[in-house]
Amino acid sequence: MAKFPKNFLWGGATSAAQIEGGRCLDGKGLCHLDYVYFRGPKTPCNFMLKKDLEKARAEETTLNFPNRRGIDFFHRYKEDIALLAEMGFKSFRMSISWTRLFPTGLEETPDPEGVRFYHDVFAELHRYGIEPLVTMIHYELPIIFVEKYDGWVSPEVIPYCFRYLKFLIDEYKDEVKYWLTFNEINMVCAVPYLGGGIILDRYDDGFEIPKDFRPFAPLPSQMAKRWENASHQALHHQFIASAMIVKYAHETAPNCLIGNMFNLHHLYPETPAPEDALRAHQETEFNMFFCDVMARGSYPSWILSYYKKNGIEITWYDGYEKILAEGTVDFISLSYYLSSIVTADPKRQERIGSFIRTLHNPYLETSDFGWQIDPTALRISLNELRDRFHLPIYIVENGIGAFEELNEEKTVHDDYRIAYLRSHIKAIAEAIEDGVDVIGYTPWGCIDLVSCSLVSMSKRYGFVYVDADDEGNGTYDRYRKDSFYWYKKVIASNGEDLE
Ligand code: BG6
Repeated sequence: MAKFPKNFLWGGATSAAQIEGGRCLDGKGLCHLDYVYFRGPKTPCNFMLKKDLEKARAEETTLNFPNRRGIDFFHRYKEDIALLAEMGFKSFRMSISWTRLFPTGLEETPDPEGVRFYHDVFAELHRYGIEPLVTMIHYELPIIFVEKYDGWVSPEVIPYCFRYLKFLIDEYKDEVKYWLTFNEINMVCAVPYLGGGIILDRYDDGFEIPKDFRPFAPLPSQMAKRWENASHQALHHQFIASAMIVKYAHETAPNCLIGNMFNLHHLYPETPAPEDALRAHQETEFNMFFCDVMARGSYPSWILSYYKKNGIEITWYDGYEKILAEGTVDFISLSYYLSSIVTADPKRQERIGSFIRTLHNPYLETSDFGWQIDPTALRISLNELRDRFHLPIYIVENGIGAFEELNEEKTVHDDYRIAYLRSHIKAIAEAIEDGVDVIGYTPWGCIDLVSCSLVSMSKRYGFVYVDADDEGNGTYDRYRKDSFYWYKKVIASNGEDLE
């Protein structure tokens, strides 16, 4: 098997909203994720209706929302970083909370306590030789933009966002080399509130979320149309903000490298029928479109035809072509969890927004949460990305979520996690052998954290168990799982010892 490069960035990934807690403390403001209720350990809840937001607004000062509690990284970051260092981490992916720095999003200057917190975290990481990999916006949007401006649909968010992004580069450029602009930028076209702060029933008064709603379930078609338009408009504004900060970073912080981040969705045709192959190709192009804009600096022609054909009307930002062309990223980064199969059969095809819903692949096993496990698809996609962009690739999320409990020995025997990660690390090694320039690997949720889709502690990804439940009960103490010791060996051997 190919060797991993000498300076390969082994590590793990998190986001501020899912770990920090310390909301409402030290002047911290709230973002749109802080208003999402926990609705049950298997119920996706990253959607939002007007009435939900009103209800949540009335409870602004409580901690009834898992994202406001996180895992209390805000107070325990030293202990957590020590655990990461014990595993031998070279890299730690985290995000900065916009509202810890700019509590409402409208301030002209940041909150000094918030600014200091991140200096402290970076100093602690560097103390152990861990390179921070910082996501500037991991889904978080100050709540005022949801209420006043309709989230990212509105161009008014851009100048405020740019002020925040510019501050990050100016303030932290000497402490942080690797940056990502928007986490999973494509999710705005699949999960509107999460990705863009878009309230669903602003586009359809009286709409009720179906009881069995899943994040990738289809919406009623009339609504889907209006929402699809809104989500692509929001996406356009995120592309602009991203390109603006990439350009600024290139001009002012030449030591920094700045990447995109998208959710890689590998798609197979369900059958060898040419129609299925065409469908899979089109859906793959759609997935790649997000990278195309950020890495090549322009909209591909096919998406413009798609907009025209489907009545999607984008209000183009002034001078957008130049902005996008001048702000192309230095590397590609991605999250990868599962592969999917698609069919051309319209009767069996469901969509949500611009995304196709996936079908079951009988050749693959699934996780507790029904995600299809497929390391080979990662290898294939890495090869495709190499050929398409000729840029380094940083795999900044991957992993398996599971229901877990601490046993009497105060650990978790998570052999399924070891098996999952082992197979994916092997696939990455094979891709490197194929000639793909993979520079790092940061599995998701290296310490248990609040699940994004379920807003729950029940879905765990970590090498480290956190004693906290969905209601916020528990000691919040940390415990090493079996995978902790396994991953430590993997890193120490630079990916040679996977057994
Ligand atoms: C990615 C997100 O979509 O997947 C993370 O960037 C998220 O924020 C992760 O937590 C896993 O998803 P989930 O819903 O299992 O937490």
